Amino acid sequence: MNARHVKQQLFEESGQNLIVGRVIDCPIEPERLAQTTADSPYVIEAFDSGLTAEVYRVRFDNKDFTLKKKRQSAKVQNLDGQFSFLNEVQRRQDFQKLKAERRTGRSLDGIVNTVYADYRLGIILSEWIEGAPIQNLTTEILQQLFSTLMMCEQNGLFEWDLCSGNLLVDHHQQLKLFDFGYMYEFDPRRAFNSNGTNDPLFNFCERFETRFLSGWLLEKGYTQDKALTLFREVKMTALKAIEDKITWLEGNGGESYIIEYYRGIQREFSEAISNQSVLERCFLTTMFRSHVLDIEDDLEGKSCTALTLKRIDVVQEILNHHFPLLESCGALFYQNEGASQEALRLQYEQKWKLAESYQL
Ligand SMILES: Nc1ncnc2c1ncn2[C@@H]1O[C@H](COP(=O)(O)OP(=O)(O)OP(=O)(O)O)[C@@H](O)[C@H]1O
Ligand SMILES: [Mg+2]
Repeated sequence: MNARHVKQQLFEESGQNLIVGRVIDCPIEPERLAQTTADSPYVIEAFDSGLTAEVYRVRFDNKDFTLKKKRQSAKVQNLDGQFSFLNEVQRRQDFQKLKAERRTGRSLDGIVNTVYADYRLGIILSEWIEGAPIQNLTTEILQQLFSTLMMCEQNGLFEWDLCSGNLLVDHHQQLKLFDFGYMYEFDPRRAFNSNGTNDPLFNFCERFETRFLSGWLLEKGYTQDKALTLFREVKMTALKAIEDKITWLEGNGGESYIIEYYRGIQREFSEAISNQSVLERCFLTTMFRSHVLDIEDDLEGKSCTALTLKRIDVVQEILNHHFPLLESCGALFYQNEGASQEALRLQYEQKWKLAESYQL
């Protein structure tokens, strides 16, 4: 258990409630909302993908909402999964406060509005986002995503789960975040992410590349040229966000090691966008890192798909052909650090078999 788990556990046991919003804004009594099933007359769509919650599109007086209902027990066994519903209600409260303060101006447009949430009833009612998952990864969408994430970070919130199912683009071409089960508090002046200073590997751009971009590129099956062009666009847009972040850190008491960390990334990204061979190398090591991290997530959750197998194929391919590069640029981290090429080849062969047996 980490410090956050302990706090959330204490809250859970205290019996205390956490309510976001006003009950008069709730279209029916919260207690009735909490009884919702797929058969409720006002349900017009049910999403059964959720691991910690059931999600319904509901309609009252011709107005649509999204109801997220806590599952009795989360399908994710680990503590982060167990507390993800509570965590989400906590984040909804943070955002409603920020929205009420209006200090952040339009930068909160990328965050869904919460109508009403009651933790003990196990409900979160949100505005319905009329839209679709990201279809085209445009500069505009990337800018919106990164500036929303920077706003979250400046307010001490770090998002881990930027997968495609957690990002919607509405009819005004506005990107919206709406799932905060894995968004945690952190001190942006002193920490790299919500793991403090333990894991500098993780930052907003890495999260996007790992949870979204690496899988997106595999699924789209783009040519190397097209993939590189898109990757360069991501780096260029992230670079702008990083420059803003550095300015903010300098003006707001950021520790020098945090500023240095972002300056390092700034140098790395600048070089990649101005030199094609550096870009290609960066693409290779970034995809390797992203797949390695995502494979571990899937294996740990025993939730593997055809994409997991594809990711392992790519990792094996890169291991076979570019091992010295991986070694020299620090792409072998955590359990892979210091391992020989042969040992890693064997490990990923085993992971492939494991992933095959964990297919959902
Ligand atoms: N406010 C909303 N407007 C429109 N659609 C939504 C909204 N909230 C959620 N959805 C839809 O419901 C799906 C599941 O919602 P959400 O990601 O919040 O639940 P979850 O339990 O965390 O699911 P998962 O475990 O799959 O991430 C989303 O992928 C999205 O398609
Ligand atoms: Mg989700």
